[in-house]
Amino acid sequence: MVHYTEIVNATVETLNVDLGERSYPILIGGGLLQDAALLAQHVTGPDLLLVSNTTVAPLYSRTLEQCFPDRRIVQAILPDGESYKTLAAVGRLLDVLVANRFGRDATILALGGGVVGDTAGFAAACYQRGVAYVQLPTTLLAQVDSSVGGKTGVNHPGGKNLIGAFHQPVAVIADTTTLATLSDRELRAGLAEIIKYGLIRDAVFFAWLEESMDLLLAREPSALARAIRRSCEIKAEIVGRDEREQGERALLNLGHTFGHAIESATGYSGWLHGEAVGAGLAMAAAMSRALGTLDAEQVERVRALLTRTGLPTMAPDVRASSALDHMRIDKKVKAGRIRLVLLRGIGDAHVTGDYPDDDLRATIAAHFG
Ligand SMILES: NC(=O)c1ccc[n+]([C@@H]2O[C@H](COP(=O)([O-])OP(=O)(O)OC[C@H]3O[C@@H](n4cnc5c(N)ncnc54)[C@H](O)[C@@H]3O)[C@@H](O)[C@H]2O)c1
Ligand SMILES: [Zn+2]
Repeated sequence: MVHYTEIVNATVETLNVDLGERSYPILIGGGLLQDAALLAQHVTGPDLLLVSNTTVAPLYSRTLEQCFPDRRIVQAILPDGESYKTLAAVGRLLDVLVANRFGRDATILALGGGVVGDTAGFAAACYQRGVAYVQLPTTLLAQVDSSVGGKTGVNHPGGKNLIGAFHQPVAVIADTTTLATLSDRELRAGLAEIIKYGLIRDAVFFAWLEESMDLLLAREPSALARAIRRSCEIKAEIVGRDEREQGERALLNLGHTFGHAIESATGYSGWLHGEAVGAGLAMAAAMSRALGTLDAEQVERVRALLTRTGLPTMAPDVRASSALDHMRIDKKVKAGRIRLVLLRGIGDAHVTGDYPDDDLRATIAAHFG
């Protein structure tokens, strides 16, 4: 069990994801998982299913459980790993809900990283056509990305995230104290997504990241809280305007089409998602340079920040031809054309299918083996 060193709940930042009747708050702060009063405000229902995994549950589930002395809490602990983000895992969660006769007023608590959040969220979307769930993200990536926006789902042997549903949580409660136990590598993977937000929408935030990267890597609490808050603000704003990815939400895939090529060509092993996104951001910047929308100095800033964060900017272990094949089967291909998120400047991303194929091939050749 973890003993919190920070003062509980010194500051709680609250943001709102504005989706009409599906709106919900994002709460960010230290020690929130042991703040019974705050949790009680956002977690409703008499019956709670606490979903976590074998790594995170021993660290934080007891703390959380103690906050709900008057509720029935059933725990479902999944094995740890992306390979368990499956329909079988969802089936297990549904079995537990049924076995315990949970009703429509049940609430699912998703305590963990993106794998737990996506799996538990999808179970919540399916059970009795949808029950409430609360995201309690414990990785940096989950706190800035996967817990916000309502995309839930699991992998299929035929591809990642192929099965899922849009189902918004009733609240996202990000306890930044949990990041203390995260590995450096997972921390850096989360920072890749944070850099992504600066590149998409906010040059001032990007510049602040350049100044503050050492503090972030040292896990300085106020720097981390600020980075998480700004990232969530940007994601919430984009999701608020385009919940189901008809348009603008695709901007959030900056670096991801290139990144997915790395992940799928390497069989989703070896590289963390955030590492692949890091290299993908460098490639998106280079491609933007080839198209003349980014200058050499801006590309260098992107590469330098990724490097200082300890993220890769190349994928030498993936063959260029194989990377291109994997990009073509990416979900985001429309009418046979790979749509890319590219940059018109730092803080100004756009989606386009309008580029010479030669530039894409050259970018890939320069970054893959
Ligand atoms: N739904 C979305 O919008 C969305 C967005 C981005 C990513 N995702 C999904 O998120 C997943 C990746 O999420 P992730 O990077 O959080 O990976 P993850 O859930 O696998 O967590 C990474 C590792 O950290 C461990 N961990 C979690 N919290 C910890 C803590 N506080 N201390 C110590 N260890 C801890 C986990 O057990 C795991 O081993 C992928 O499946 C991806 O598809 C979803
Ligand atoms: Zn991502």
